[in-house]
Amino acid sequence: MLPALAVLAASCDNRPAITADYDVVPLPASIVLAENAPGFTMNKNTCIVASDADQQKNAELLAGYIADLTGLNLKVVDKAPGSNFISLENTLGVENPDAYALAVNSDNICINGATPAGTFYGIQTLRKSVPEAGENNVVFPAGEIVDQPRFGYRGAHLDVARHFFGPDSVKIFIDMLALHNINRFHWHLTEDQGWRLEIKSHPLLTEVGSKRSGTVLGANTQEYDSIPYGGFYTQDEVRDIVKYAADRHITVIPEIDMPGHMQAALAAYPSMGCTGGPYEVWRRWGVTDEVLCAGNDSVYKLVDDVLAEVCDLFPSEYIHIGGDECPKVRWEKCTKCQAKIRQLGLKSDKGGTKEQKLQSYFMKHAQDFLAEHGRKTIGWDEILEGGVNPGAVVMSWRGEEGGIAAAKMGHDAIMTPSKYMYFDFVQNEDRDKEPLGASWGKPLTVEKVYSYEPIPETFTPEEAAHIIGVQANTWAEYIPTFSHVQYMTLPRMAALSEVQWSSAPKDYEGFLTRLPQLVEQYKNQGYNYAKHVLPAETAEQPAQDK
Ligand code: ACM
Ligand code: ZN
Repeated sequence: MLPALAVLAASCDNRPAITADYDVVPLPASIVLAENAPGFTMNKNTCIVASDADQQKNAELLAGYIADLTGLNLKVVDKAPGSNFISLENTLGVENPDAYALAVNSDNICINGATPAGTFYGIQTLRKSVPEAGENNVVFPAGEIVDQPRFGYRGAHLDVARHFFGPDSVKIFIDMLALHNINRFHWHLTEDQGWRLEIKSHPLLTEVGSKRSGTVLGANTQEYDSIPYGGFYTQDEVRDIVKYAADRHITVIPEIDMPGHMQAALAAYPSMGCTGGPYEVWRRWGVTDEVLCAGNDSVYKLVDDVLAEVCDLFPSEYIHIGGDECPKVRWEKCTKCQAKIRQLGLKSDKGGTKEQKLQSYFMKHAQDFLAEHGRKTIGWDEILEGGVNPGAVVMSWRGEEGGIAAAKMGHDAIMTPSKYMYFDFVQNEDRDKEPLGASWGKPLTVEKVYSYEPIPETFTPEEAAHIIGVQANTWAEYIPTFSHVQYMTLPRMAALSEVQWSSAPKDYEGFLTRLPQLVEQYKNQGYNYAKHVLPAETAEQPAQDK
C-alpha cells in the first residue's frame, strides 16, 4: 500500500486514535523520539511481517496482544507491503541475545532483535506502550528504542506443591512472566505436601504422593481440615506447558527437591526413608525430619529414574535439585546412612559435619547423573555446606551470603534473597490488613523489591560476572488459589523486572509513574493484582479474577 493510501485508510475508519507511551516497565535502556517527525498509525490495515518460522510465532503473539488491547485483527504476512506494517526481524548484530532495536517512522515499525527472543522483548515493549485498552487505533511516536537486559537469567519461581495450580493457571503465570520480560520459570514440582509430576517408572509418586488427606488450618496451627487435596501434571501436560513457555522465550527449569522435602515420595515408597515409615503426605507446613535415606542404594536408583524422565521432559540446560532444609536427625541414627559415611571415609571437621558431607555426596550423585545427560545443576544455598561440587550453580535464598561466597569461589549464582524476593511474604507493613502470609519474613513492599541491588559494590568484575541473575519465589503454603498467586505477585513482579532488566540508576518515583500503564495490561488480561502503591484512579477499577 502507498503511504497516501495508508493515511486514507486511517482516516476512513472512524475509530479514535490514542498515542503510545514508550516509558514502560521495565524501562528501556534508550528511547530517542524524533520530535518533529510524524508517527506511525496502527489501524485495521496494518499488517505484521514475519519472514521465517520463529518470527511467525512472534507475530502471532503480537497479533494476539494487539487484538486483546484494541480489537484490531492484524494480518500476518511474509513479505512487507509498501507501507503500514510492523516488521519483525532478528539481524541486530549485538552480542546480548535479548537485545532489540525498535524503530518507528510514519511508514512502518521495525522490531529487530539480536535473536528471536530479542525481537520478542521488543514486542513486549510495543505492546506495553499502548496506554489503555479500547476500540482504538494507536499512534506510535516516531523514534528509536535501543534496549538490552542487565541479566541473562531473569527468573520467577512458583510452588505448585503446597497448593496445586492446574495447567491453565500455569500458562497464565507464564503469560505474566512474558509481560515482564522474565525468561526462566522455576517450577517447584515436589514437596512434603505433594508430588506433582507424573513419573512413569514410579507411578505411586503421583498415585499416592500427589494426595493428602487434609491440610493444616491457619498459621500452621494444631488443627486440620479433613478435605482430601491433590493434583498433578501428566507428562503430556508438562510437554504442552514447556512448549507454551518456549514459544514465549521462557525456559522451564523443573525442581525435584532432594534429599529433604521428600515426605510425599516417602509416603509412596516408604522403604526410601531411614525408618521405613509409614509416612503420610504431609498435612502441615515447615520442615519435616523425614528425608530420603542417603545410605540406601535403591534411593540413588530412584533419583536416577526420576531425573531420567525429567531430562526427557525438560530441555532446559539447568535442572534444579533443591538441597535446602534437609535435617540430619534421621541420618545421625540410621545404620545405613552411618555405614555409608564410614564407607566414604567422611569426617566432621571445619568443612562441615559428616552428615553434611553425606548430603554433598548425595547431591554430587544427582549432579553427575545430570552431567552425563548434558545438564547442569542448580541447588539452594545449603549445597555450599559440606562442600559444593564443581560446576553447581548456587541459588542464594537465606540471604545474599551464599551467592556472594559462591561467586567468590568461582561458581555462578542466582540471587533470590528472601528479604527482597519472597513473594509469599505479606506486602503491606500492616500485616493485619493482608491475607495470611508466610510469617517468618518481614513485610515485603513493592519499594523494597525495587530497591534490591544484586551485585555487591565490593565485587570485582570477574566476581560480578558470576551473578547470572535474579529471581523471585512464590511459595504457596498460604496461597490457596491462582487468583491469590496473582495478588501476591503483581505488581511486585514489575519491580522485580526492573531489577532484572534495567541498568539505569534506581528511581522508585519514576517507576511509580510508569506502573499504572502496566496495570492497564493487567486489567486487559483480567489479572488480579495488589493495589497498595497505585494511584486511586488506577486502583479503583477492580480487576476480574481469572
Ligand atoms: C527455601 O525457601 N526453602 C528455598
Ligand atoms: Zn538412612
